Amino acid sequence: AQINSRRCRSAAATALPRPGEARASTYKVSVLGAAGGIGQPLSLLLKMSPLISDLRLHDIANVKGVTADLSHCNTPAQVSGFMGPEELAEAVRDADLVVIPAGVPRKPGMTRDDLFNVNAGIVQSLVEAVAKHAPKALINVICNPVNSTVPIAAEVLKKQGVYDPARLFGVTTLDVVRSNTFVAEAKGLRLIDVDVPVVGGHAGGTILPLLSKTKPRVEFTAEEIESLTKRIQEAGTEVVQAKAGTGSATLSMAYAAARFAESCLRGLDGDTDVYECSYVQCDVTELPFFATRVKLGRKGVEAVVPIEGISEYEQRALEAMKPELKASIEKGAAFVNKEP
Ligand code: NAD
Ligand code: LMR
Repeated sequence: AQINSRRCRSAAATALPRPGEARASTYKVSVLGAAGGIGQPLSLLLKMSPLISDLRLHDIANVKGVTADLSHCNTPAQVSGFMGPEELAEAVRDADLVVIPAGVPRKPGMTRDDLFNVNAGIVQSLVEAVAKHAPKALINVICNPVNSTVPIAAEVLKKQGVYDPARLFGVTTLDVVRSNTFVAEAKGLRLIDVDVPVVGGHAGGTILPLLSKTKPRVEFTAEEIESLTKRIQEAGTEVVQAKAGTGSATLSMAYAAARFAESCLRGLDGDTDVYECSYVQCDVTELPFFATRVKLGRKGVEAVVPIEGISEYEQRALEAMKPELKASIEKGAAFVNKEP
């Protein structure tokens, strides 16, 4: 399976020990929402990672069964299950990486922001536990609306006095995965060769694929740019509609989240060549959070790649998204800082 970050490098190629090199699987990873539509396949993919020694699955339902099932796979990671708020502290204690797919998904006709009222409180309570019991963990937020849930997580961590912007990530890898797939299909390229950076946020027009930065270099007509950009921006809705009320993307998301988690772990492990797009605190624009390409290292974000040399179309789309993204960021921060 190719779940890894850099083009042409599979998980097996990058994470398995080389001959003569005994590579220990050392990282503790917690999945919060592990019994859900994303949580289950994500946990399976993480169970296959040679970098993970301790895989903790937490949910408010069904998690013991998922744990028993997964624990029978003969891969090195030890799997343990934690149920409900009572066992949350143990689920995250001293974790190196906490992945958060907990939260309700969309139904047809809903926007991601329509999930705010339910999911904001879920992210707040889960990140509070991470702040108390795993203050050094990298946090991968999958729960929607990502444009607001990441600022929520940041404010919670600030309140607990443990906020390190380099360790907090909104997972936007699915936008990159989709862009790579759709561009490869449209241009007849080998999937493994294609890499499209996606910047901005993770909702509608805030998802901005930088087609002008596609590798390998490809020319697009104006119509292709318009239709590919729209399809990438609406790809989540495409899945929500196809699932007709039973949820949103789970399998492709699990794949994308496993790739991003593996990249975070490779960075922690000292790999010096790990780049991913992610929604992080940064100064590539005047907004406090923006998805852009980042270099991952031993402490999380090691460097932020500036957004330069983009096309006029992309520049216009980047400016146009800012009011929506700004409002989503402010809404998230206000949720945590509201008067009691
Ligand atoms: P799901 O309903 O299938 O699973 C969610 C799981 O979270 C359930 O098992 C539920 O019991 C659990 N949960 C709820 N509250 C919890 C809490 N307080 N503590 C622990 N677990 C809790 O939903 P899903 O399809 O897995 O989607 C999960 C979230 O991921 C949604 O918000 C969805 O919009 C989002 N999502 C994000 C992306 C992205 O690209 N970032 C992609 C797809 C889905
Ligand atoms: C996606 O992009 O698939 C997710 O954000 C889920 C959704 O609601 O579209």
